[in-house]
Amino acid sequence: MNIILEAKSIYKSYKNNSNNILTVLKDVSLTINKNEITVIVGASGSGKSTLLHILSGLDEPDSGEVLFLGNNIHKLNNEQLSIFRNKNIGFVFQFHHLLPEFTAIENVAIPYMVDGKSLKSALLKAEEIMTLVGLSERLHHKPAELSGGEQQRVAIARALINNPSIIFADEPTGNLDSVNGESIHQLFLKLKNEMNMTFVIVTHNSDLIKLADTIFEIKDGIVQKKI
Ligand SMILES: Nc1ncnc2c1ncn2[C@@H]1O[C@H](COP(=O)(O)OP(=O)(O)OP(=O)(O)O)[C@@H](O)[C@H]1O
Ligand SMILES: [Mg+2]
Repeated sequence: MNIILEAKSIYKSYKNNSNNILTVLKDVSLTINKNEITVIVGASGSGKSTLLHILSGLDEPDSGEVLFLGNNIHKLNNEQLSIFRNKNIGFVFQFHHLLPEFTAIENVAIPYMVDGKSLKSALLKAEEIMTLVGLSERLHHKPAELSGGEQQRVAIARALINNPSIIFADEPTGNLDSVNGESIHQLFLKLKNEMNMTFVIVTHNSDLIKLADTIFEIKDGIVQKKI
């Protein structure tokens, strides 16, 4: 067994405006294996994004533990948690969240500089990763000057630059046509096979689901392993 991340008995509720409590995750336990593509499926509103945010340290559970290589990430203070995320976790959202005023290569370089590296080395590294994702010809375009698929590849390059242990992706191709979506799927497969990357992906896309080594389904707050 090769477990990289483990969730133990996670509970998460939200309170709405009229003070009703909605329990989204009920006693969720799961393990994520290294160098696998794990896919999380479930209906809209079932709690997939909530679970992804808790697994990646972007949000806190009400109770339960998330262990990264055996260490409870929710025991870290805010500063330790953001250092942990910047070093170990890459996150790809449905909408890319690139910074519009910076070029593609600068967007990719920023997390590397946050990790304490110089601008020069960050730009060199960013160019290498941009080449890996097939964007060596678009280094100096701003996000608005890129296609949707290219923007998403920049977001993936940005997620990759600090050589994370796990990439979390929330509907990474939900916003793309099938050709652009397929090129992102093939990129994920290449990163898994050639760089031993681990992925945890929320998706409705049946082509992406086909690449999964493990599938979890969320329904009524309960997570079940399907494969
Ligand atoms: N901050 C919040 N406050 C109150 N309720 C919330 C909050 N965030 C999410 N919810 C509710 O929790 C439930 C789960 O939300 P979540 O975003 O995790 O669903 P999802 O499975 O990702 O859905 P989708 O497929 O539509 O993205 C939803 O019913 C949502 O309305
Ligand atoms: Mg969601």
